Amino acid sequence: MCGIVGFTGRQSAAPVLLDGLKKLEYRGYDSAGIAVMDNGTISVNKVRGRIASLCEKTGDGASVPGFTGIGHTRWATHGAPTEENAHPHLSNDGRFAVVHNGIIENYIVLREELIRDGYRFQSETDTEVIVHLIEMYYAGNVRDALIKTANRLRGSYALGVICSEEPGKIYAVREASPLILGIGMDENFFASDVTALVNHTRNVVYLEDGEFAELSGNDIRIFDCSGREISKKVSRITWDVQAAEKGGYDHFMLKEIMEQPAAVRATVAPRIKDGKVDFEELAGLVPELPDVSKIVITACGSAYYAGCAGKYALERLCRIPVETQLASELRYSDPLIDSRTLLIVISQSGETADTIAALRECRARGAKTLAVVNVVGSSVASLADYTVYTRAGPEIAVATTKGYTTQIAVLYMLAVFFAERLGRLDDAPELVEELQALPRRIQQAIDMNPSVPALARKYHESRALFFIGRNTDYAVALEGALKMKEISYIHAEAYAAGELKHGTIALIEEHCPVIALCCNPSVMEKTLSNIVEVKSRGAEVLALPFRDNRRILSAADDLLFIPDADALFSPVIEIVPLQLLAYYVAKANGCDIDKPKNLAKSVTVE
Ligand code: G6P
Repeated sequence: MCGIVGFTGRQSAAPVLLDGLKKLEYRGYDSAGIAVMDNGTISVNKVRGRIASLCEKTGDGASVPGFTGIGHTRWATHGAPTEENAHPHLSNDGRFAVVHNGIIENYIVLREELIRDGYRFQSETDTEVIVHLIEMYYAGNVRDALIKTANRLRGSYALGVICSEEPGKIYAVREASPLILGIGMDENFFASDVTALVNHTRNVVYLEDGEFAELSGNDIRIFDCSGREISKKVSRITWDVQAAEKGGYDHFMLKEIMEQPAAVRATVAPRIKDGKVDFEELAGLVPELPDVSKIVITACGSAYYAGCAGKYALERLCRIPVETQLASELRYSDPLIDSRTLLIVISQSGETADTIAALRECRARGAKTLAVVNVVGSSVASLADYTVYTRAGPEIAVATTKGYTTQIAVLYMLAVFFAERLGRLDDAPELVEELQALPRRIQQAIDMNPSVPALARKYHESRALFFIGRNTDYAVALEGALKMKEISYIHAEAYAAGELKHGTIALIEEHCPVIALCCNPSVMEKTLSNIVEVKSRGAEVLALPFRDNRRILSAADDLLFIPDADALFSPVIEIVPLQLLAYYVAKANGCDIDKPKNLAKSVTVE
């Protein structure tokens, strides 16, 4: 979703801002703009569409002089993606420019009030009220004006502000939207996420809700919402810059699929000590485990499907009931959650608005909260009682792959860890070996299926694809269908195979592709019957069995093979050929794979 950058220093600001915005493109956007301050004047350049057009318009920034500026990529919410609605927005007197990520919930009331007071609006956005409020409250001190403005705003916002009266200064404000400060040599930055900063600096400060920052080239000052100066820890980004680049692959998505063995290894290996799973970060939770009467997993999108896959292992091994709930539903469901509930909240970005709201709601009801998060220092990580980081590294493609598989790997480890600490685990060494084998098996799942591009060419013109499976295989079907539709735009639906006869089978016709997950031995025979049923109605079946499953091999039209594994943990392997299938189908259809239309990487609005 929207991305923000800010720069102040001794080099030209515009090229730095444009470079930062390019790094944020992956978040999803439909217009972009920059505002740069030079000799007491702010100049604004905006375009509808891609950053490339903004680069063209400004000669890659060369035609915009000045050493201080802010930039923005906008994912339209209030008002169409037009140049007028693109950020930065200017105050009527031209002294202030503002960029904003988030939603101002009370903007209608504020807009009416400001119009009554004579302010003229140029856009349909909720954001524009902010810049007029700042102008209204400004009496010679930007910080005071920002505090007064923030006190009037309800909703979520990360703001970047410049004022022509204060050359060389950029201001950042955060409330429920990500914002990170970058500390350089005689230059300072802010950005929505670290990918926009790593080319310049590895020293960062994570702003928290209600905090303000005032940055000049050689100074950073941070204040709380009452204006009291505070000091904050400087964190070091440890991952490699190359991790956020394509490294010879056509798309980030393919690179990230191929990185999964390494990402799962980085997530699993450090947590296995002396043949046991150990999470030092959960030491405080262990004594509370016997009191847990149920586990609720909540998340959005693929992270939710990771929860669906992890639920089976948690329930089977810990013998604790596990519910999975979409965060956007849970937050409004008056949930039956109390101090005996362990809430596991899953998020790659740690900034998904509904996930954060569900976490807050459950905390307020007394749940113990554990976050499974990839982005260090993100909102979900800072709100939860306990955080386990997946170690996937930066994920750039909108459609998650290594983010999802590392989430499942953590859930499997949690299942083993909790069960062992509760004294409910008999076969710990075998399960730990299975966990350690996951990276190798994911690699095998890639190597064993060179036919994926050919299968993609066979299926890419399909009108609809059906994914079926039972139990753990059903969880994989859900994510497989989501991957397919989000990047190839082909209608794809997942069904629990046992549900086919209750309606979906009416849709099966001659040559209709059905993708059948058949790795779970406890239900394999049942899924085989479903394969036979759809085949007898003309379906083409692409099955994913363990490689020596002869019965499935002879029943299906096409095959993708899964290396042998414990069925409880196999979803994390089964999904990999389906990610590749979605990728190659989308490629055959000429889709914008890394930035699918209408989607955003990090959904920071409700
Ligand atoms: C968006 C992304 C998905 C992701 C979901 C949840 O829809 O496109 O790939 O699964 O948000 O994101 P999170 O960062 O909370 O895991």
